[in-house]
Amino acid sequence: MCGIVGYIGARNTLSVLIKGLECLEYRGYDSAGVSFIQNGKLNVIKKKGKVKELYKLMDDSGYDLSEKGKNSISAGIGHTRWATHGAPSDENSHPHMSMNGKICVVHNGIIENYAELRSFLRKKGYEFASDTDTEVAAQLIEYYYTKKEHDFEGSIRRALQDIVGSYALCVLCVDYPDRIICAKKDNPIVIGIGDKENFIASDIPALIEYTRDVVFMEDNCILIMTKDSITIKDVHGEVLDYEVAHVDWDTDAAQKGGYAHFMMKEMFEEPKVFEATVAPRIKDGDIFLEHFPCTKEFVSNINSINIVACGTAYHAGCIGKYLIEKLCRIPVTCTVASEFIYSDPIIDEHTLTVVISQSGETLDTRNAMREAKNRGSQTLAIVNVIGSTIARESDYVLYTAAGPEISVASTKAYTTQLGCVYLLALKFAKVLGKITPEKYADYQYELLEMPSKLQKILDVQDRIQRFASAEYNAESIFFIGRGLDYYLSMEASLKLKEISYIHSEAYAGGELKHGTIALIEDGTLVVSPITQDELAGKMESNIKEVSTRGATVLAIIPERFAEREFSCNEKFIIPDCDELFAPILTALPCQLFAYYMAVNKGCDIDKPRNLAKSVTVE
Ligand code: G6P
Repeated sequence: MCGIVGYIGARNTLSVLIKGLECLEYRGYDSAGVSFIQNGKLNVIKKKGKVKELYKLMDDSGYDLSEKGKNSISAGIGHTRWATHGAPSDENSHPHMSMNGKICVVHNGIIENYAELRSFLRKKGYEFASDTDTEVAAQLIEYYYTKKEHDFEGSIRRALQDIVGSYALCVLCVDYPDRIICAKKDNPIVIGIGDKENFIASDIPALIEYTRDVVFMEDNCILIMTKDSITIKDVHGEVLDYEVAHVDWDTDAAQKGGYAHFMMKEMFEEPKVFEATVAPRIKDGDIFLEHFPCTKEFVSNINSINIVACGTAYHAGCIGKYLIEKLCRIPVTCTVASEFIYSDPIIDEHTLTVVISQSGETLDTRNAMREAKNRGSQTLAIVNVIGSTIARESDYVLYTAAGPEISVASTKAYTTQLGCVYLLALKFAKVLGKITPEKYADYQYELLEMPSKLQKILDVQDRIQRFASAEYNAESIFFIGRGLDYYLSMEASLKLKEISYIHSEAYAGGELKHGTIALIEDGTLVVSPITQDELAGKMESNIKEVSTRGATVLAIIPERFAEREFSCNEKFIIPDCDELFAPILTALPCQLFAYYMAVNKGCDIDKPRNLAKSVTVE
């Protein structure tokens, strides 16, 4: 949801900014721009389209964008946009310069009272060049700077008193060429600390090439950054202490590493990251969830579990609901976070709220977690990004070890989220005495076996590729399943929609006949995961119902069903496992299917239209 970068130091600032924006493009790619102070002058260059358009514009204009290029820039900021207020255009691109050229701003978030502030500023003689809420911030800061405060930091602090909304703001002032000032509320800012150089970014991948020492900025704080210093203050100007965290991600984790797309690379990482998430937590026949007290007293005190999440993480939560209810007999609700807040949920101190989020920044999910906390619930976050807001604000955290996920469509993060919900369900079942020691041991073994089974699927992924090459012209695709296969189908359908733009729906196999089967006609494509022993017979009837109406059916089945008769045109066989664990394996062929359908259609795989990876607006 917009990416911002900032740099002060001896490197070629323009190279640092452009490379940083490329790393953050997953957050939005409607336009890109940079602003910098050079020889006492504030410059802005911006362009509708992706970062490569900006790069071309700057290259054609004679800017040296190479790493080794000389640097005569004293401070620079950059932005890649996911449009909210104002269509994608050159004018609406960030950075926004104030009318008299004193202030330049990049912003991630939404200024809710921008209309009111704009009319106030118009009365003061300010003219606007864009439709954005952000331009209001630039003008307001300049207004206070020139008319009242005459001080860069003071004018930002004063402007923030008027601004209602959410923001990660990075600001340059032409009279203060040695610094960048940032303000944060509800949108992430990571500070990268270097030697006589400092960095700002919305997310770690933009910094990792230069430094591993980072500070996650807290809400309602102001950062004053020069090349030699980091000062963080509260809104009243009191200097605050901060903690420096060390990030141990590989530098190549945020590179494509020879794969055509990040999504492909990330699917190929699934065996490794699933293992990294699960294996260290299984020791001596037991499961250990660090930082989360799974004592009998704690778990027995929980009467219900409430899972909240968005998008793919929500679908991981649905699998979690099924597992926890099945294994632990604790009632579980799983709700999309944006609905949860308005649902007057039944929650008290005996409810555990499990929040699932790859980024740890999704605003709807954060709001849902806060609502649950306000109602007395304890909170456990399953999060990928270390130090993210949700991780910091929840009572307990279980990190997925997916590493940076760059492709907007989530793949390896989902698989590792499943890893965590399986660990959680099994541990709770053990503590509550709802699982026999033998089953507990078998299920741990199942989890440890998953990486090699995932690898087996990747080894034959060309079969999915061939099927997709034949079917990519499909206009509408239905995923049907029962039980766990239904929850998995929801994720499979989302993945396909997100990157191939093909209309798709997930349906419970038994529900199809109550209306939606009317849409099945000659050539309609139906994908059906069938992995649950008791339900396989019923699913055979369901796919017969659609195939007799002309549907082309791909069934995804485990080895033990390979010889079984199904009314399908094609079978994709996944390795056998206990049926409870099948979603971990079935997800991968569905992700590969979405990928190859989109590749065949010529879609932009890693940056699908209208989407952003980290959604920090409601
Ligand atoms: C966006 C992304 C999805 C993601 C969802 C939740 O919509 O495009 O891929 O599943 O946000 O994100 P989170 O970071 O909270 O898991």
